Amino acid sequence: MFAKNCRLRYNERMAVFLSSSEEETFRWAEEYAKTLRPGDTVLLEGEMGAGKTAVAKGIAKGLGILEEVTSPTYAYINSYEGRLFHFDCYRIESERQAEELGFSDYFDLGGICLIEWSENIAGLLPEHVKRVTLKKRGETAREIQY
Ligand SMILES: Nc1ncnc2c1ncn2[C@@H]1O[C@H](COP(=O)(O)OP(=O)(O)OP(=O)(O)O)[C@@H](O)[C@H]1O
Ligand SMILES: [Mg+2]
Repeated sequence: MFAKNCRLRYNERMAVFLSSSEEETFRWAEEYAKTLRPGDTVLLEGEMGAGKTAVAKGIAKGLGILEEVTSPTYAYINSYEGRLFHFDCYRIESERQAEELGFSDYFDLGGICLIEWSENIAGLLPEHVKRVTLKKRGETAREIQY
């Protein structure tokens, strides 16, 4: 298992961006959005307050979405123009619950899916995913691996 993880990490060729403010994270995400294609799924990873939703906001802006992106914690999934879907799985208690909520259907709509707390729906995720991992490095410092 460990060796497999190492190999994956090696092949993924991770890049790192060091952000010193929410504004910088937003602008990084706006640029990162240009690398995304319809149908892509991006796992937004990191602890509470790491900046996952901040990244989602920047990606939406970068995709030309005008509507303000808000945290979907209570709605689970927010749809933007039918081409960006922002999931927050923090409160999902089981994959069965997620399936009952129709989560799997969203992966086949051809939009871009951004998923916070994807570990709670691990078994439902598409085979190929991208990852953006945020690590707190200080009060307003964040390391963004992508
Ligand atoms: N460099 C930074 N990048 C992003 N956010 C930052 C940064 N520095 C400070 N912050 C603050 O950290 C918080 C990030 O909140 P955000 O909602 O994006 O986190 P999250 O990872 O989505 O958390 P949750 O798991 O609770 O949904 C905000 O209050 C933001 O102002
Ligand atoms: Mg969030």
